[in-house]
Amino acid sequence: MNAFGSMLYDSSVMRAYTPARYAVDVLPESARAVCCRVDGLPAEINSFADSILTAAERDYWQSMRGVDKRRHEWLLGRAAAKDAVRLLLEQYADLWLSPDQIEILPDAYGCPRVSGTGIRAGLQPVVSIAHSHGVAVGLAVLDPGALAGVDLEGTFRHRENYESIAFHPDERRILADIAPDLAEEWALRMWCAKEAVGKALGRGLSHGLLALRITHMDIAGGLLGVELRDAALDQFPELRGKLLTVYTVRESDFVFSAIIYQQGAVRMRPSRQEILDYLLQKMGELTQDWDYTEPVRPESLLFSELGFESLDAVVLCTAIQEHYQTPMPFAELLAEIGQQQRDLSIDELTTFVDTHLNGPAGSDHATRRLQ
Ligand SMILES: CC(C)(COP(=O)(O)OP(=O)(O)OC[C@H]1O[C@@H](n2cnc3c(N)ncnc32)[C@H](O)[C@@H]1OP(=O)(O)O)[C@@H](O)C(=O)NCCC(=O)NCCS
Repeated sequence: MNAFGSMLYDSSVMRAYTPARYAVDVLPESARAVCCRVDGLPAEINSFADSILTAAERDYWQSMRGVDKRRHEWLLGRAAAKDAVRLLLEQYADLWLSPDQIEILPDAYGCPRVSGTGIRAGLQPVVSIAHSHGVAVGLAVLDPGALAGVDLEGTFRHRENYESIAFHPDERRILADIAPDLAEEWALRMWCAKEAVGKALGRGLSHGLLALRITHMDIAGGLLGVELRDAALDQFPELRGKLLTVYTVRESDFVFSAIIYQQGAVRMRPSRQEILDYLLQKMGELTQDWDYTEPVRPESLLFSELGFESLDAVVLCTAIQEHYQTPMPFAELLAEIGQQQRDLSIDELTTFVDTHLNGPAGSDHATRRLQ
């Protein structure tokens, strides 16, 4: 991950309007994503709105009720998100758009969705927005299947004892291990991580504050690991056992968080039957060269029946990991069967792989897979 470094970027279309606009380096360089921050609106708010909003956005903005602060932050959020989309498409698709060619309106849950005259099929970014104290941040990701979320919070406002409501006792234990001078900032990063994940799921924090659980923390890397629990898991069963990595960074008076979760990995998650089919096919390929004439069956035993040697088992395990792009504790499995001096059936190997890809046996695989 990049160390945080704010970089003032040039934008001929909107430079005249806003005093401070930055790219936020919260995500790893490998992500096809752009995160932009806009600090403050110009004095001429209406002409600024006219210059960046589409007709439908303008209608929505004008129909917004409530305090001006809310309308202002909505506009600021559009500016940041449109900046992010424009920079993203310039960078990765060589497409140069003006802000009014990009339309960002909320879906039924409030999640911002991108369309617009400049957005081509297949190049539809996923966006996320946050605002706080006159600063907005927009995240745009060039993968229509990705889950993307962003958040920011000001560090200048001291908040008393929100941890007891915001965090589960396990999360508070993680916080308790942090050096006292960093604890307040990391509590805020944890909060921001939850909000970013909630936005990435498209439901905000509606599953409850404890349904998004911080389970891992890497202070040096600025990373937090979040797992779904309870109501969130009921709604997104395909994320059971998945650790969602949230990137966080502090810049002066703000903490930022961002997550990009590639759903492709979830979609590829196989059923137990698919794992078995793959293993039978792989085994068939391997034993072809060994003059093994019987059909390979789920009950077939690797060592005594199919003639595997230790190194063959290691080669097979490596192939399985590469095929599913997931490390699994094969070394422990092989050590265990060695110690017990027993054999391993293809069926048992299937269960092992299934458990490590999909969670404990007995769950409903059909519903856990993304359709
Ligand atoms: C979405 C949510 C996390 C936003 O948190 P917040 O601190 O109020 O505001 P932020 O500045 O961080 O984010 C606001 C942006 O989130 C985005 N957002 C709102 N609902 C969203 C959703 N369901 N999914 C993804 N993004 C969402 C919007 O872009 C919004 O900005 P905009 O309306 O100006 O475009 C929060 O409002 C929420 O959880 N709402 C669900 C309802 C709920 O249960 N609230 C109780 C939480 S204690």
